[in-house]
Amino acid sequence: MSRTYISDLSGKVGEEVELHGWVYNKRSSGKLWFLILRDGTGYTQCVILNNNVSDGVFELENELTQESSISVKGLVKKDDRAVGGYELEASDITVHQIAEEYPISKKDHGTAFLMDNRHLWLRSKRQHAILKVRHEIIRAARDFLDDNGFVQVDTPIFTPNACEGTTTLFETDYFGQKAYLSQSGQLYNEATIMSFGKTYCFGPTFRAEKSKTRRHLTEFWMLEPEIAFCDLEEDMGWAEKHISHIVERCLERCKEQLESLERDTSHLEKVSPPFPKISYTEAVEVLQKEGEEFEWGGDFGGGHETVLAEKFDKPVMIHRFPSAIKAFYMKHDPDDDKLAMGMDVLAPEGYGEIIGGGQREEDIDVLIERIKKENLPKDAFNWYLDLRKYGSVPHAGYGMGIERVVAWICGLPHVRETIPFPRMIYRLEP
Ligand code: 4AD
Ligand code: MG
Repeated sequence: MSRTYISDLSGKVGEEVELHGWVYNKRSSGKLWFLILRDGTGYTQCVILNNNVSDGVFELENELTQESSISVKGLVKKDDRAVGGYELEASDITVHQIAEEYPISKKDHGTAFLMDNRHLWLRSKRQHAILKVRHEIIRAARDFLDDNGFVQVDTPIFTPNACEGTTTLFETDYFGQKAYLSQSGQLYNEATIMSFGKTYCFGPTFRAEKSKTRRHLTEFWMLEPEIAFCDLEEDMGWAEKHISHIVERCLERCKEQLESLERDTSHLEKVSPPFPKISYTEAVEVLQKEGEEFEWGGDFGGGHETVLAEKFDKPVMIHRFPSAIKAFYMKHDPDDDKLAMGMDVLAPEGYGEIIGGGQREEDIDVLIERIKKENLPKDAFNWYLDLRKYGSVPHAGYGMGIERVVAWICGLPHVRETIPFPRMIYRLEP
């Protein structure tokens, strides 16, 4: 008898197998009873017939509660009426633990209650579907880079450098020295491309976001590719191919999950390169025409992004932002110093910015001046400036916020469900 997973039952019809899992449900019918078992790969029905099992096993019907952990031995049968299309005719059940009364019942619970019980809520069908899609998004995102010659080179989480401004830094004591939790691995990617040409880092990043929105976490996962000898145009080309690959893969491999999330995939099916590209200045004109109160020079809020995205049925790329609102490392437009060669990708349907990036400044003198102007501690950036002393090249990259992509592809109203254990301004537990 072999250990089997529910997802593999189709190849085991007529065989005796053993499944390990948790009780999802049970129902009685006199001389037999049924239980629905869940094992992480699916749900299946087990039939317990009085004649097939010992008295002790038959009587388990009265003991097994929802989430009790058990192993079931039995014969696999095809049954189109059963969940998943197969059924296990049980010959034996081993109990690992009888679960106490499970706090998450089938009735509706409030979000705060579910978030407090996130460690249990993860077992629900909905959360399971979301996290499976997240897994596929990450896999597809990395496969795309791996298949295109990028090398993953990890970047540190403790750092003395502020990459994305000083207002959202988490500061920590590092043996008497001030350190921050990384906001982005980008500055280190700029070092690693000088060894490998094309690299990426993937890991958690941290921002002390004081705003409570449906798009912001204080700890989120970012995938950041960086490319040597690359300008803004080529950078945007990588980003649109990257996103399209991820969406295509999810449509192909996550059908079941997207269906169970009731995701209308018609928008997703349209995602393929090229994406529409408009400059920041054009975007401001669009907003003003739509009656939004918005002045050239400001940063787009979530509402503005939604208005802009609604104009297009694919993700839209916005490029060339006012340099005053962008990070110190961004290259300025050679044709207009007021503009920075940055780009954002906005997801359709109001899911907001999923990618931010652009071309980096490669001139050491310009960088020194910016670091001074922004009052950044120059000594902490000496290593970064070295990169402009020893074979500086035009280069570009971007960062993809995984949780934003999950929210968009799954069609979720809030990022809190896109990550197993969300960290937000008011949430550190569980
Ligand atoms: O636009 P951002 O701040 O860009 C950077 O950090 C660059 N250094 C990346 C690079 O060029 N290598 O962040 C990139 C993306 C955003 O587009 C968004 O998807 C996501 O990271 N993001 C967040 N996601 C969830 N919660 C937050 N607080 C986020 N802040 C940014
Ligand atoms: Mg951004």
